[in-house]
Amino acid sequence: VSLLEDGYKLIVIDSNINSSPLALVRVKEILQNKNIAIEEIIFKNGDIRDVNFINNVFKEASLANNPITAVIHFAGLKSVFESVKNPSLYWDVNVVGSLSLLKVMEYYDCTTIVFSSSATIYGDDWSGSIVESTGLEPKSPYGNTKAAIEKILEDFFKISGNNWRVANLRYFNPIGAHPSGMLGENPLGIPNNLFPYICRVAKGEYKNLVIYGNDWPTEDGTGVRDYIHVMDLAASHRAALDYLFNNEPQFISLNIGTGRGTSVIQLVDTFKRINNCDLPYVISKRRKGDVPTLIANNQYALSKLDWSPSKSIEDMCKDGWRWNLLNPKGFENR
Ligand code: UFG
Repeated sequence: VSLLEDGYKLIVIDSNINSSPLALVRVKEILQNKNIAIEEIIFKNGDIRDVNFINNVFKEASLANNPITAVIHFAGLKSVFESVKNPSLYWDVNVVGSLSLLKVMEYYDCTTIVFSSSATIYGDDWSGSIVESTGLEPKSPYGNTKAAIEKILEDFFKISGNNWRVANLRYFNPIGAHPSGMLGENPLGIPNNLFPYICRVAKGEYKNLVIYGNDWPTEDGTGVRDYIHVMDLAASHRAALDYLFNNEPQFISLNIGTGRGTSVIQLVDTFKRINNCDLPYVISKRRKGDVPTLIANNQYALSKLDWSPSKSIEDMCKDGWRWNLLNPKGFENR
């Protein structure tokens, strides 16, 4: 939505293993409702590990005199828990997939890429606010794959004579939904993450939220994270593309967070207050692998990009809940 509002022409590639094709229908509806005329969104269903498939997408665009000028690469699996159980799947989809994409990009001389990386690559041996120069010490196969892809991108950049334009966006904790209530997330199965779990408790699907520990060294004893509204996250991609297009070729990594911390209890209280709903919870022991506090130092991103996150925790709770209320079963069943 953000890119189309900005006049970009898009080709969307998705295997749809974790997503619904209806999301793109909704994208079009949102823009129609705002009276924004857009060109056709080209959609290609396929897997990025399939070099022939990717090659055909690039070839078709070139033959149509619309060569692909940049890629935003989100394609990957993202569950820490699942990656521990099945690391080879994560290496295959995330790393082999990225490599196949990059080889085709190189062949077509498309050398601008915004990559969706994660704060998880910083590991768990620190506490508080993190800068980009912090050493990478991922603690899960998922984190390892994100760090490995950043390294591969760095090698592509170096071997080209520093000629690629690469931005690694290291996401902190994205939550919320499009403010229209028409686009949002609906994780398959039991959600691992706090926000979708809160939404399911609020909908009455689960009896209570389980808070993993209230004995952390934080103000109220519960874990503190840097939650960022998904619309601010989307805007950072648009800003990163603009930045790459308008500057010298470079390899840059940026923390995408708000720089503000919110505890589990604070998030729960805000959600209840803003949405006027009940959210019972119980306290259990700490979850393995969790850290007390994870907050972005976002000064570098603020200084480089024409971007600054503007949405509050209240906005995140309100928009996330609206999406859930309007789409209790996700896209398939409004
Ligand atoms: N939490 C609960 N109960 C739950 C789920 C989470 O109390 O049911 C707590 C956690 O202990 C933590 C906080 O809520 O203190 C946030 O947990 P999330 O699982 O929502 O998010 P994480 O910070 O653990 O992990 C997220 C992404 C990862 C990513 C990581 C770092 O899920 O993919 O941020 O970027 F790697």
